[in-house]
Amino acid sequence: MSGHILVVGSINMDLVVRTERHPKPGETVLGTQFQTFPGGKGANQAVAAARSGGKVKMIGRVGNDPFGETLRKGLQENQVDTTCVLTTPDTSSGVALITLDAQGQNTIVVASGANALLSPQDLRDFAPVFEGASILLLQLEIPLATVARAIALAKLYGVRVILNPAPAQPLPPNLLAQVDYLIPNQYELALATGIEVVSLATDALHGLGTPAVIVTLGGNGAFVSTPEQKVHIQGHTVPVVDTVAAGDAFVGAFAVALAEGKDLLEAVEWGNAAGAITVMRPGAQPSLPLREEITAFLQNDRRK
Ligand code: RIB
Repeated sequence: MSGHILVVGSINMDLVVRTERHPKPGETVLGTQFQTFPGGKGANQAVAAARSGGKVKMIGRVGNDPFGETLRKGLQENQVDTTCVLTTPDTSSGVALITLDAQGQNTIVVASGANALLSPQDLRDFAPVFEGASILLLQLEIPLATVARAIALAKLYGVRVILNPAPAQPLPPNLLAQVDYLIPNQYELALATGIEVVSLATDALHGLGTPAVIVTLGGNGAFVSTPEQKVHIQGHTVPVVDTVAAGDAFVGAFAVALAEGKDLLEAVEWGNAAGAITVMRPGAQPSLPLREEITAFLQNDRRK
C-alpha cells in the first residue's frame, strides 16, 4: 500500500434500542433491548479500513466525557492512529440515538456534540498528516466548511478524495467537482445533486468533473458510473440482523482496495462484501469485518 488512509470525520457513541417496529410520530412503543456501541460515520469508516488491512489515521473531536475516552480507546484498539483526535473541553461527545426494528432496519438521530466543533483551523495544524496519505475519506457529520478545507488540503498534496455524502444534504457543485469517488445511496445522490434519476445525476456529476460515482443500493449491491462505463454490481443475499454501519463498512473496505491498487470494480466488490458481512452482526464498529473475513466471503461468493 502506498500511503496511509486519512479519515476526517465524526466519532459517536451509539445508543441502540431494539423494537418490533418503529414508532409513528407521537407514538410510544416498548423496546426489547438497549445496548451502546462505538459508532459515528467517520470512526466506523476508519475502523472498517483498518480491519480491512489499511494503515489509518483519523482527525476528529471527542468530548471531555467518559464516552470520549471509550471512543478514543476503541479506535486505538483497532489500530487507528488517534494522535489527531482532539478532546474538546466543556462539550459532550457525539451521540446517536438509534432504533432498530425486527427486520434490522434503523432510524438514527445524531446529537453532534464535539463533532460540530471540528473546524477548518483544526486542519491547518494537521496539514502534515495530509502529506503522505494516499486517500482521504470524508462524510458529512462534521461542518461542511471543514470538509471543504480537507478537500483543499488533499488536492494540495495529491491525495485522492472519497466522499460519502451522509447524512444527505444539497452540496455545492464546486465541492462535488473536486471529489474523486462519490459514494452516496440513492437518497443522498438525489439530495446532493438535486436530480432524482440516478443515471442523470451521475452524468451531471461527471459533467462537473467527478470521475467516479458509486451508488450503494443496500442488498441490491451498487451502481458504478464513470464517463466510460455504467455497471450494476449485484448484491449478496444474507440474513439481516442490523443494517447500522453497512455503508461505512463498504466505504472503508473500498478505500483499502483502491489504495492497494485494485481496479474500481474489484474495489466495489470488496466494499459490497464488507457491507454484507456487517448487516449479519449487531452494532456499528463491532460488526465491521476483518480482512480475512472479506477474502473468505468473496471466495465463497454464492452469486457465481
Ligand atoms: O453510519 C452509521 C452511523 O451513523 C452510526 O454509527 C451513528 O453513529 C451515525 O453516525
